[in-house]
Amino acid sequence: MKIAVLPGDGIGPEIVAQAVKILKALNLNLEMTEAPIGGAGYEAAGDPLPDATLKLAKESDAVLLGAVGDWKYDKLERHLRPERGLLRIRKELNLFANLRPALLYPELADASTLKPEVVSGLDLMIIRELTGDIYFGQPRGISTLENGEREGINTMRYTESEIRRIGRVAFDIAMKRNKKVCSVDKANVLETTELWRQVMIELSAEYPEVELSHMYVDNAAMQLIRAPKQFDVMVTGNIFGDILSDEASMLTGSIGMLPSASLDANNKGMYEPSHGSAPDIAGKDIANPLATILSAAMMLRYTFNDEANALKIENAVKKTLAQGYRTADIATEGCKKVGCNAMGDAVVAALQ
Ligand code: IPM
Ligand code: MG
Repeated sequence: MKIAVLPGDGIGPEIVAQAVKILKALNLNLEMTEAPIGGAGYEAAGDPLPDATLKLAKESDAVLLGAVGDWKYDKLERHLRPERGLLRIRKELNLFANLRPALLYPELADASTLKPEVVSGLDLMIIRELTGDIYFGQPRGISTLENGEREGINTMRYTESEIRRIGRVAFDIAMKRNKKVCSVDKANVLETTELWRQVMIELSAEYPEVELSHMYVDNAAMQLIRAPKQFDVMVTGNIFGDILSDEASMLTGSIGMLPSASLDANNKGMYEPSHGSAPDIAGKDIANPLATILSAAMMLRYTFNDEANALKIENAVKKTLAQGYRTADIATEGCKKVGCNAMGDAVVAALQ
């Protein structure tokens, strides 16, 4: 099994090192090869997604990614910026289905900014479409009008086949969970999402056991804070999913806890924490590696069909939390506060 390991920028290298440590400790037959992406790709090859990195990713069974981005690249031409490397690899590998579970570990109920009774027991799966929508739609750009004023353009668009294939992922996953899908759109204003809603309704005929509901994205943002436990599976487009998954992460105490999987039609996948590169804390050994470690668990589950070892990692994370280990972002009074590396060691120890 070949894994492309792409640490990226900011805290990326430190958190990925912990996930690699855990995978090695499991003694699986994994061949892991590192390559640069994002700002690191730009430094190494003048491209946020160097050809060699893309080639490696295409030849591998799965990709483990840290994070990309750093303010120091904000002045670069748009196509050279780190985020473009990430968007391109998602598109090139056809990773249209982004799974972002928001699971509250009981030990972290106090770390959430919401009341424990609102979030305890939370187990929500956000399914975000990842290769379409306003992120990729043409035309796009900034141009100058005849009157000299500048205008920015992006285009929200979805074809019905794109909507149907992400809908299928959501319904299939709901069948293995509590059989509830909430489709999030803005069908009262945006035609693209009016079509989204129609296709979801059509598709639901194939899944009579699943209860389909619809919610406008503004209401969904509110309901996530008001009563998040009403949701089982949420399915939505690229930009709404970007925003709602950050929001959902805070229900679980810290964005440092949220893993993600981005899958193609054959379950080849890229696995990355839902959080960003946090350049302000990079290199200080204080970042939370658990989202990346949990992403490695998702990799074993979804790409390598190895549920046993996925659970082993997840249970080790639970045990580590139960033992009181906390990184700074989830620290509470009386906990054992540790850095990124020590947290990785604690999870390795808990694997035994
Ligand atoms: C995410 C990130 C990315 C996105 C950025 C870094 C391009 O916010 O994975 O959620 O918007 O998709
Ligand atoms: Mg985001």
